[in-house]
Amino acid sequence: MKRLLLVVFIATLGMPFTAAQAEYLIKFSHVVAPGTPKGKAADLFAKLVNERMKGKVKVEVFPNSQLYNDDKVLEAMRLNTSRTTGIMAAPSLSKFVKFSDTLQAFDLPYLFDDMNDVHKLVDSPLMDKMTDGLGKKGLRALTVWDNGMKVFSIKGDHPLRKVPDDFTGKKFRIQSSNVAEAMIKALGGTPQKLPFKEVYTALAQGVVDGQENAWSNIYSKKFYEVQSYISVSNHSYLGYLVVVSQDFWQHLPKDIRAQLTEILKEATTANRQYAAEADKEDRKKIEEDHYAKVVELTPQERAAWKQACQPVWTQFRGEIGGELLDEITGLLKK
Ligand code: LMR
Repeated sequence: MKRLLLVVFIATLGMPFTAAQAEYLIKFSHVVAPGTPKGKAADLFAKLVNERMKGKVKVEVFPNSQLYNDDKVLEAMRLNTSRTTGIMAAPSLSKFVKFSDTLQAFDLPYLFDDMNDVHKLVDSPLMDKMTDGLGKKGLRALTVWDNGMKVFSIKGDHPLRKVPDDFTGKKFRIQSSNVAEAMIKALGGTPQKLPFKEVYTALAQGVVDGQENAWSNIYSKKFYEVQSYISVSNHSYLGYLVVVSQDFWQHLPKDIRAQLTEILKEATTANRQYAAEADKEDRKKIEEDHYAKVVELTPQERAAWKQACQPVWTQFRGEIGGELLDEITGLLKK
């Protein structure tokens, strides 16, 4: 039934488009708040396209899972056969698990020390290698947008510091990533995959005890108001792959594709700035609000978490590809 509704909905997307007086309409769907690094970059992209490509292309942004939630959007994109109305989205890299083995590398705990490491990989030719396979799945990767490094939050009488003790008996919401699932188990906890839209309620009602996310999501969705502690673990990266349906993209006139690519580049530069700012400012606002207490891990604690996560690397080496992983770690000098 749900699938039928989705098909009907997609079919209506393919109907002749007149309302916006443009030849092409792009519906940009995302799940976070408009004020986050992804939300702001999507709005900037829409603003620049709507100003500079008036009459040719119009972009409409749908934030907060209004149009599709996490996993549904990729399916919708693949089902959409319209050549005049396209769907664009920026799901987190963790949500491509059904479509790409190689992108799972991004979820490996402690692959990146910081955002400079992330940009080294994202800006390298390895990124094309990692996204090439998506074409066969009907998706076209356009760029990567940042959110930031992830931290862990928990409800309880003490923060997450010791592994596995502080994770034992606790349930953690994760995205649809199998690597994240293995990571939570390696740290001693119990993982539970849930769409982003359901996280606040799951935390508030005690369906899960904790979660991992970047500061801007913890702040904008008020997760910190229903959590007791946040451990600054910076254990992995939350970033997004901006994608569009391959069929829609290939059938756009060349000059339109080129102009959209150019504007996306500008939005990507701005996104990195937004993300760097949010990382500091949203953390500060959370600290000032005094709902959840923010704790730093000692170097020894961080080393113990990292050590506990080592089996995850071994477990996923085959799926990701040993050679690719060696190239990535070589690039990052790990
Ligand atoms: C999450 O599900 O936690 C994130 O992927 C949400 C987002 O898009 O930042």
